[in-house]
Amino acid sequence: MPAAPQPAARKRPLRQDAGMKPHVMFGVHPLFGDYVDAIHTNGGYLARVIQNVEEPQRPQGERFADGLARYHTWLKANGHTTAVRVERLDRYRPDLAETPLLGFRGLKVLPLVNRLREEFGLHFPPLIHPAAAVSPMAVVEEGVFIGAGVVIAPHARIGAFSLVNRGATIGHDAVVEEGVVVGPSCSTGSAVRLRAGAVLGIGCTVIERLEIGEGSYVAAGAVVLHDVAPNRLVAGIPAREKKVLGNTGGEST
Ligand SMILES: CC(C)(COP(=O)(O)OP(=O)(O)OC[C@H]1O[C@@H](n2cnc3c(N)ncnc32)[C@H](O)[C@@H]1OP(=O)(O)O)[C@@H](O)C(=O)NCCC(=O)NCCS
Repeated sequence: MPAAPQPAARKRPLRQDAGMKPHVMFGVHPLFGDYVDAIHTNGGYLARVIQNVEEPQRPQGERFADGLARYHTWLKANGHTTAVRVERLDRYRPDLAETPLLGFRGLKVLPLVNRLREEFGLHFPPLIHPAAAVSPMAVVEEGVFIGAGVVIAPHARIGAFSLVNRGATIGHDAVVEEGVVVGPSCSTGSAVRLRAGAVLGIGCTVIERLEIGEGSYVAAGAVVLHDVAPNRLVAGIPAREKKVLGNTGGEST
């Protein structure tokens, strides 16, 4: 007797996301792609983005909507089944399965962090790209982002809500205070102190034992040979003071 026809095998969706850790991101920034990159290379995915303020005007390609569209295209092309939900802060309800992270860094993030701590008891673990070499003797505080190719030397301290971008090197015993932004490929010597809210532009060098004052900005490519007072812009080789800055509290977002 011929075998009875079997029902067609049901096509199961590819559950590539099973076992991956969901993340929720508060706020947005042109570094969206780097954050998502670090989330995925750590075995996670981005489940939600919570926006608390309207995004400032940005050039095409740097807007959150552009980054999100590229992320969704990539997810689909790679067989993932998830898509990011975008929600407003006043509608936010915590989900204990989600790892919280910040979509921007610098001192500007502090009011948002305080609100999320008080209302929901959130704590922000650091997000470190697995291709960064962070000394086990270094200290990395809450909410720090460390990008691919970064080297953090022994006994350095990276203060809360700071960002160390791709390829930067932080020397041994350096102290990076709260809300500092270190641009890609910057190099700081040993025992340098970067005060709260300071920003180092792409590829600059700060030689050993110097202090960059609170809220100061070192321009791209500068070589700093002397201490920098608070709220100054310095630029060039050797770096010279170009202007006094208003107290803007770190990187603009
Ligand atoms: C410093 C910077 C932000 C410009 O700031 P600004 O307030 O608009 O400054 P200005 O363009 O008015 O420049 C002020 C002076 O600094 C000089 N200057 C600015 N950037 C410089 C640089 N990278 N190298 C040398 N000189 C520079 C300008 O020529 C000008 O000099 P002058 O007064 O003698 O004519 C910008 O040049 C820069 O370096 N950005 C870094 C961006 C970056 O690294 N982003 C990644 C962060 S994660």
